[in-house]
Amino acid sequence: MTRVLLIGNGAREHAIAEAIVRSEQKPRLYSFMKTKNPGIASVSEVVCIGRYDDPAGVVAFARKAGIDFAVVGPEEPLGHGVVDALATAGISAVGPTRSLARLETSKSFTRNLLKKYDIPGNPHFRNFRSPEGIEAFLDELDGIVLKPDGLTDGKGVMVEGDHFQTRKEALALCLDILKSHPGVTVEEKLEGEEFSLQCFCDGRTVAATPPVQDHKRRFTGDRGPNTGGMGSYSAADHLLPFLDADAVAEGLAITRKVAEAIRRETGVPYKGVMYGGFMITRSGVKLIEYNARLGDPEAMNILPLLRTDFLDICRAVIDGSLDSLKIVFEKKATVCKYVVPRGYGLPQDHPEAVSTSSRIEIGETPGAKLYYSSIDQRPDGLYMTTSRAMGVVGVADSLAEAERIAEAAVGAIRGPVDHRPDIGTEPLLRKRVQHMKELKAEKRSTGGETCGKTTSDGF
Ligand code: AMP
Ligand code: GLY
Repeated sequence: MTRVLLIGNGAREHAIAEAIVRSEQKPRLYSFMKTKNPGIASVSEVVCIGRYDDPAGVVAFARKAGIDFAVVGPEEPLGHGVVDALATAGISAVGPTRSLARLETSKSFTRNLLKKYDIPGNPHFRNFRSPEGIEAFLDELDGIVLKPDGLTDGKGVMVEGDHFQTRKEALALCLDILKSHPGVTVEEKLEGEEFSLQCFCDGRTVAATPPVQDHKRRFTGDRGPNTGGMGSYSAADHLLPFLDADAVAEGLAITRKVAEAIRRETGVPYKGVMYGGFMITRSGVKLIEYNARLGDPEAMNILPLLRTDFLDICRAVIDGSLDSLKIVFEKKATVCKYVVPRGYGLPQDHPEAVSTSSRIEIGETPGAKLYYSSIDQRPDGLYMTTSRAMGVVGVADSLAEAERIAEAAVGAIRGPVDHRPDIGTEPLLRKRVQHMKELKAEKRSTGGETCGKTTSDGF
């Protein structure tokens, strides 16, 4: 009997938990969570509530439970070295060591790696550890993006037009970032459509899962502040309406080169998930960032489609035998919509910002999959806490049908909730396709790129 430890407490981990317990090998699931997720708890043998910055606490639980291997969901425990601590205790994990998790935790590490190994996909960029030279570099860029070095809980990236408007403001922000972070990456603002390509990696072989598009903005029509992700979709042909097979192959080729570069650079094989956040631009596929874990919500799109036993994938990642495992995903479309408290994502001082928990009731949700996130189960029912509450997923032959299933299920969740009704709908998909068409047409009419600078300096 295989005993699997799952670390994490979100909807992504609820989907991972489901993929684990679905295995025909009938594993026993042991869960380590920051706060109790009733969905994960309901399929777990034993639950331990602890801190993600306490790898020793995870190891103690794993030892006591006699765990065979661990699966790490979120970035926080990776950044605190949970995989290293488990390895010292002789327990393997699906997830990179703390040093290799720099792929996500250090924007400068990743940008420099691509540059050093001549891997395509970097925008024009420079890393700074001091204010010297920042002002001159800002003048070289048409549009600016600032990225603090270090884990920022997904809230650290600042984009011109959204978070600041002028060069002067960008400079002031850089100086501010340098007060609290070891460095800041300043880079060219890219324009295009984003997609997530989540891959399993055993150190040598990189296996892709279907591409997904997330929706970060809080409100319909891509308006409002950025969030952890309000929902996502994937298409039955394992492409996206604005993304062809060549572009997916370009993203995968970059990830394969990065896996190889990490091995050459550190001497350590990367074992875990390499989630490439890419953007297809007028000049091809560019890398926005890597995450060292599955995406949330994107995990909820791909895991329900998985036909290969998830335990076999975990073992292949750990043993380095991914090359001999065929990973199969059902050819179906998925639409995930996050149900959130109405005030989610609003500034703290906004009168409708969420501050208290509210009760919700779930009616009939035929055909939909529900993954709990920030949900508290109390004797009198389910309560939302302050973050994203529940991922609702429709899986069907077409995007239209998957969207209909997800939307109907969201409608059956009663309480002070909100969601994005536009995710996965025809008008929004058409807008994405049109955006790409316009960018490509612009490229043809200008005879090339507007942002073709390719030189960049490391530290
Ligand atoms: P987050 O997930 O909060 O770290 O935000 C990352 C988001 O910032 C991405 O999803 C993009 O929308 C945006 N972003 C990051 N880098 C760039 C870039 N070079 N050009 C344009 N947008 C970017
Ligand atoms: N969906 C974005 C993330 O998981 O970081």
